[in-house]
Amino acid sequence: MKITRIGVIGAGIMGSGIAQVCAQAGYEVIIRDIEERFVEKGLQAIRDSLDRMVEKEKLVREEAEAVMGRIKGTIKLEDIAQSELIIEAVIEKKEPKRTLYQELESLCDPKVIIASNTSSLSITELASFSNRPNKFVGLHFFNPVPVMELVEIIRGLETSDETFNIVKEVVDNIGKVGIEINDSPGFAVNRILVPMLNEAAFALMEGIASREDIDNGMKLGCNHPIGPLALMDMIGLETILSVMESFYSEFGDPKYRPCPLLKQKVRAGHLGRKTGKGFYEYDIK
Ligand code: 3HC
Repeated sequence: MKITRIGVIGAGIMGSGIAQVCAQAGYEVIIRDIEERFVEKGLQAIRDSLDRMVEKEKLVREEAEAVMGRIKGTIKLEDIAQSELIIEAVIEKKEPKRTLYQELESLCDPKVIIASNTSSLSITELASFSNRPNKFVGLHFFNPVPVMELVEIIRGLETSDETFNIVKEVVDNIGKVGIEINDSPGFAVNRILVPMLNEAAFALMEGIASREDIDNGMKLGCNHPIGPLALMDMIGLETILSVMESFYSEFGDPKYRPCPLLKQKVRAGHLGRKTGKGFYEYDIK
């Protein structure tokens, strides 16, 4: 099956980034969220990102306009049904995903492939919520999607080779490097990255160093492009917490306990850049 149209569900940071890179590769993209204002915010994030690329002379203005021309926004799930590949990037909770996949079953042709951008949930379990576990796969992008080169392609227990190969071709076409992963909590990258980030929150909570010194330590001592506390603010503290919670419950190992400071910040609604406050403070538009 040749993919020409891609539906993206969820117009948040990840969904809008995914829609952008797919459209840049020439796919027709339709991006759906539950309210007009969320769709508009996602489209605006794409415009801003493309403008930035034009300013940096990575893209000419006409190309940026052509990319925007390939992206349509909608609040109607049925508008997504014509896509051959649907990439879901909604909230990291099982129940809304289950409901969504069941709605998709009644709208989409059985040939349609469903991919989840989940960072913490089991692809095998999410696939079981659909009636097409062989046509279900994980496509885990990294933030900021237009910049980061990696996509983890995750095989659930029943993902077919055909499905894997089709999405691998899409990943190649959008110019990303796809790595093949067998379903396991946190896949490969988050399994390694997120406990390190959680440890940075412990270091701050225990007063080992200031937030700036912890971040500078990892930037200057390990050549990370950004410190772990700043990176958590960029990713979203609730995402880090949900990944740690899933490790803790899946592996039953106390080494994965989420840092209490991280929990407190999430409870306070201090989720990072998107709320203007996390480990640092930000101006929000
Ligand atoms: N769209 C387009 N271009 C963008 C962009 C966006 N949204 N964000 C940044 N860029 C470009 C900039 O234009 C700039 O281009 P240039 O090199 O040609 O000048 C380049 O990226 C670097 O950006 P800046 O100069 O503004 O800022 P930095 O040098 O600080 O880089 C960064 C920003 C690339 C985000 C860098 O800080 C970085 O690599 N951080 C680490 C990111 C990371 O680890 N991501 C993975 C998170 S884990 C994850 O997502 C998984 C999830 O499940 C938790």
